[in-house]
Amino acid sequence: QQVEPFDYIIFGATGDLTMRKLLPALYNKLRLGQVPADARIIGTARTTLDRDAYIARARDALQHFIPAKFLFPNLLEQFLGMISYVTLDGTSADSNWGELAAELSSSPASRIRVFYFATAPQLYEAICANLHAKEILTPESRVVLEKPIGTSLETADAINEGVGKFLPEKQIYRIDHYLGKETVQNVLALRFANPLLNAIWSAEHIKSVQITAAEVVGVEGRASYYDTSGALRDMIQNHLLQVLCLVAMEQPETLEADCVRNAKLAVLKALRPIKEDQVANETVRAQYTKGAVDDHAVPGYLEELGQDSNTETYAAVRTWVDTPRWKDVPFYIRTAKRSKRKVSEIVIQFRETAQSLFGAVPGNRLVIRVQPNEGVELNLNVKNPILDEYQLETVKLDAPIKVEGGPFPDSYERLLLDAVRGNPILFIRRDEVDAAWVWAESILNAWADKKAPMHSYAAGSYGPDAAKALLAEHGDRWHEDMV
Ligand code: BG6
Repeated sequence: QQVEPFDYIIFGATGDLTMRKLLPALYNKLRLGQVPADARIIGTARTTLDRDAYIARARDALQHFIPAKFLFPNLLEQFLGMISYVTLDGTSADSNWGELAAELSSSPASRIRVFYFATAPQLYEAICANLHAKEILTPESRVVLEKPIGTSLETADAINEGVGKFLPEKQIYRIDHYLGKETVQNVLALRFANPLLNAIWSAEHIKSVQITAAEVVGVEGRASYYDTSGALRDMIQNHLLQVLCLVAMEQPETLEADCVRNAKLAVLKALRPIKEDQVANETVRAQYTKGAVDDHAVPGYLEELGQDSNTETYAAVRTWVDTPRWKDVPFYIRTAKRSKRKVSEIVIQFRETAQSLFGAVPGNRLVIRVQPNEGVELNLNVKNPILDEYQLETVKLDAPIKVEGGPFPDSYERLLLDAVRGNPILFIRRDEVDAAWVWAESILNAWADKKAPMHSYAAGSYGPDAAKALLAEHGDRWHEDMV
């Protein structure tokens, strides 16, 4: 369904995120008929460019990132025709605001304006202050904030306060692109639209939960950002905690955004804080050393960085959700750079039955493949068909989730238009950010005090051996180690 006409104003429009994700996502939405013909995209950045030069960059990006069979020449021209560019320093009151205001004033004042901040978070407040001072913010305006929202509770609060001076919470959309992933959204459908699963979704039947987001890539060109962040801040405090919330939350009363966000917040608040003296037992942090990925030799993290560092490129945490539903169920969360393969998945391990008609039987296992090969698999115990007597073996039901005739939607696609629709269901509320930081800080502070050792793992491996022990204590294994 088509959204209302809008103006999308992107700060940081020459950057990687805009070229790689935002423009391709908006193009795809136009291709799907969801973007009205008179919608406009106004790119802004400090780089001095005229419109033609910016369009040339946008064209290159679309040709690179959209698969050829979905790149229709007429549609591409139509899309590029929607784009304009204003050279602007968003943090400077003396910059080219007049030109941006003039561009915007050619649309009706009631038109939806989405200001997308694909810039460093330290700039958000200054940009908002200028948008406010230049009277560019309208009641129909909203701002989209990219992560990272801070590096601690304090810095996150400063960013949120800064933006909050100029816009009410309902006009602030904090993006977490994992919530835009189809298979992550599907967690709610799987849980609450399948009585079969809903009925057994608790400690009575579930033994443990694993949430993994592993990547083959290293820190790429982002070492200076990454080294101030590390795996826990970069992936766990936001993306993986959000996934955990969807797995663990109580059923929201409705699909209204605040009902869902309240249910997620309750999980974040129920996460058991990890005390300083437990951090060495409950977490594993590590850095990759040189190794090989896809048969190519790659350097270690410190070699890439060219200096010593106490930043982790791998983090695994055992955590507990202190609600009756999850009593004594460990949640294992991990993320890695330079892992053996790229995989994001949720593994629900059901309890084994010690004594059944067939003796001890292994627990069933449900795997939600977030990416790649999006889908759901369920292990079932069946009788071996060759033998006359009952001997059990395990078979796998595998349900791929795919889109017939089209590419699998990128996570940004729905999110970009949800901001236009004014639907914040997949965006993070301020109190969620705070609660996630409270939990993450309990670990980060202890790590900073060197209360947990820094392990190492060879690039191209599944991570340090120490991470296996985290699960072994409860009789669990990481998915790749399960037979
Ligand atoms: C980003 C992180 O938020 O997510 C990156 O900053 C990471 O370091 C990326 O590579 C992973 O996203 P995806 O969608 O490829 O799993």
